[in-house]
Amino acid sequence: MGGCFPCTRPPKNDGKDQISPASDSLVDGPSVSVAVITFLLGFVSEKLESKSSSADLKKQNSLKEKQISSSTSGRIAAQTLTFRELAAATRNFRADCLLGEGGFGRVYKGKLESSNQVVAIKQLDRNGLQGNREFLVEVLMLSLLHHPNLVNLIGYCADGDQRLLVYEYMALGSLEDHLHDPSPDKKWLDWNTRMKIAAGAAKGLEYLHDTASPPVIYRDLKCSNILLDEDYNPKLSDFGLAKLGPVGDNTHVSTRVMGTYGYCAPEYAMTGQLTLKSDVYSFGVVLLELITGRRAIDNSRAAGEHNLVAWARPLFRDRRKFAQMADPILLGHYPVRGLYQALAVAAMCLQEQPSMRPLIADVVTALTYLASQSYNPKNQNQTSQLAAPGSPQTRLDMEKRPRNGSERDRLRASK
Ligand SMILES: Nc1ncnc2c1ncn2[C@@H]1O[C@H](COP(=O)(O)OP(=O)(O)OP(=O)(O)O)[C@@H](O)[C@H]1O
Ligand SMILES: [Mg+2]
Repeated sequence: MGGCFPCTRPPKNDGKDQISPASDSLVDGPSVSVAVITFLLGFVSEKLESKSSSADLKKQNSLKEKQISSSTSGRIAAQTLTFRELAAATRNFRADCLLGEGGFGRVYKGKLESSNQVVAIKQLDRNGLQGNREFLVEVLMLSLLHHPNLVNLIGYCADGDQRLLVYEYMALGSLEDHLHDPSPDKKWLDWNTRMKIAAGAAKGLEYLHDTASPPVIYRDLKCSNILLDEDYNPKLSDFGLAKLGPVGDNTHVSTRVMGTYGYCAPEYAMTGQLTLKSDVYSFGVVLLELITGRRAIDNSRAAGEHNLVAWARPLFRDRRKFAQMADPILLGHYPVRGLYQALAVAAMCLQEQPSMRPLIADVVTALTYLASQSYNPKNQNQTSQLAAPGSPQTRLDMEKRPRNGSERDRLRASK
């Protein structure tokens, strides 16, 4: 399981993965054609990741390029923006515009002067050239992939050594903020909202696996990458680690192990063999976090409870323990059948054997059903409501869930 994987922050530039100035300039121009994008996707998957130059691989990549070309309408929505425009939008990246910070840089709220549009602007850390590859993949992927459960890329900037990504602004921030790190003004997520978020995130993944051609393996599913709009509709974000999936008779792609500690499928962490089922495993971890309110990795918990999946495995086998797994902050306000079914879906996604895990399409079917079963505590002869923010129960639980950066640490281990 995850506990034995090396766990580090993203390494600073070691020079090995630097994208050549020539490739940077391709995304720097005023417009990017599908031909350029498909060429770059081949470039990214062929040159930057696998480093294999076999004839087979070249054939596969050319097939992928053709398939991607034919699956897009040819319109690239994301626009190039200048650094000056983005500095103006964020009032020079003022601290009070800061929305958050991840492994690759800071995210600011801003308003584009040209359109008055409110946006989120991620400024990649200039010292980390590792981020250059993620920048390129993110622009390429989000230019080609469009779905209501994927975040929209509005534009990007590659001025000099500056790399910035401009996204639609997601008013409620990340699922992580709500589930594990809520500010006093945020309300706790009730059962219905949790199921709605789970179903929506699964639909985003289903689009990547089943509609995109070739399929896309997301590789970085976790609570901080699920963003929420004002109605708690979830959208997957951060496609910098996404990989084109296997084509033809191939069952996996081989790649360096990258992802986030606690979410990474065991077989991928151990062998570097990446399949669509690696994403299904990560989805299982997120679903378990939604059900239990526990973090994927939480070193502040008692011994044996640091790793969420390791803690849950023995409990999955005993129905009588299911109620113990529900997030205590729900105060019992969930449908018992719904809890059992959601736990069953999570347990299936978390099977050790990838072949035993369900297809994401089946997960979508199950969770769409669960999300449609609206639960009303008042109809269940239960009088107490979810704890209001700031109530003793809320405070108690907040104390129980200290900020813990460890599960955000990324894996950057070579096979
Ligand atoms: N489009 C957006 N709209 C609103 N807030 C956003 C948006 N994108 C990111 N954020 C906020 O910025 C925070 C940091 O995001 P970022 O993706 O940089 O890091 P992360 O997901 O926390 O970690 P990692 O670098 O490991 O992905 C998020 O947790 C979220 O609160
Ligand atoms: Mg993120």
